[in-house]
Amino acid sequence: MDAMQNENELLTVRNLVKHFDISGGLLDQLAFRKGKIVREKTIVKALNGVSISIKPGETLGVVGESGCGKSTLARVILGLYRPNSGEIRYRNSRIDSLSHREMLPFRANMQMIFQDPYASLNPRMTVARTLEEPIRFHKPSIAAREVQQKVADVMDQVGVDPTWSSRYPHEFSGGQRQRISIARALMVDPEFIVADEPVSALDVSIQAQILNLLMEAQQKRGLTYMLITHDLSVVQYFATRVAVLYLGTVCEEAKTAELFESPRHPYTRALLAAIPKLGVKEAKHIKLKGEVPTPINLPPGCVFHKRCPFADERCEKEVPIRHEHESHVIACHAVEEGRI
Ligand SMILES: Nc1ncnc2c1ncn2[C@@H]1O[C@H](COP(=O)(O)OP(=O)(O)O)[C@@H](O)[C@H]1O
Ligand code: SF4
Ligand SMILES: [Mg+2]
Repeated sequence: MDAMQNENELLTVRNLVKHFDISGGLLDQLAFRKGKIVREKTIVKALNGVSISIKPGETLGVVGESGCGKSTLARVILGLYRPNSGEIRYRNSRIDSLSHREMLPFRANMQMIFQDPYASLNPRMTVARTLEEPIRFHKPSIAAREVQQKVADVMDQVGVDPTWSSRYPHEFSGGQRQRISIARALMVDPEFIVADEPVSALDVSIQAQILNLLMEAQQKRGLTYMLITHDLSVVQYFATRVAVLYLGTVCEEAKTAELFESPRHPYTRALLAAIPKLGVKEAKHIKLKGEVPTPINLPPGCVFHKRCPFADERCEKEVPIRHEHESHVIACHAVEEGRI
């Protein structure tokens, strides 16, 4: 896999691995095997060699079932978790092994919006203080009056009345709180925003308004997004390209229209086949038959083989490697062999 970043890419992630050791204390680790007491670690294999890239101005949708590693990927990219291995490049700088202090200039350019705006806003801080905080932290030399003006401008941009800046989060509706979270992310004029399930906690009637607001901000400010969701209709509406994640592995990546028109990977096919047919008023949530996957005891070979109708012996032993196939990037033996 290439070590260098393509000049056209804002963010490049290569072979990213993040495992969590949840073994607990020594007593928790002891197990009885074949008549002997042995010590066993319990490792959650959240990311197992993820590779993605994002070009300036585009929206990469990252989609997958709950627990497949979406939030972990976001957190590792933003430096909140350190990866076990792999590379992250932002504008051609390696950022995966920076100290907290070295990461700061990047953090101002890379902001995050979370799923639950109530949990991510400090209930004891007014909106004004919430919005001032990131700018005071990242750009302390800016004059107080300028900061106040910026708070008013950004509130106006996200559709929250600036005269309400002395109110507290609980005084707003869920949709307005998410607007305030977006405002907080915009205060430092970032280039790149990771939105982790930004509309999943909101009423369906509000979801489109918030997505439209994110799109407007993207057009006005030339922002680049990584949009994480378990909801296929959100990526279809919003993303330029889509990466499909399964048990910490990207199984397929393609332009949004191409992915939805001709999914190639068996998992993507299964996801899209599970979408309710037209005329059925149901969200495109991912529903798949088969054993619920767990990242603790990952199967060998292809992580999807236990649920895959095309699996053969090779799939049970050998991890498929990403390859290009008709403008999709896919990790599947059957596609590579031309079996499907
Ligand atoms: N800090 C952590 N410690 C231990 N396990 C974690 C931690 N964060 C996430 N995990 C585990 O990693 C897996 C992926 O989680 P997550 O990235 O939150 O998935 P998603 O966002 O796709 O639902 C899950 O099995 C989750 O329990
Ligand atoms: S590699 Fe094999 S098991 Fe995995 S998706 Fe392809 S056909 Fe199915
Ligand atoms: Mg998540």
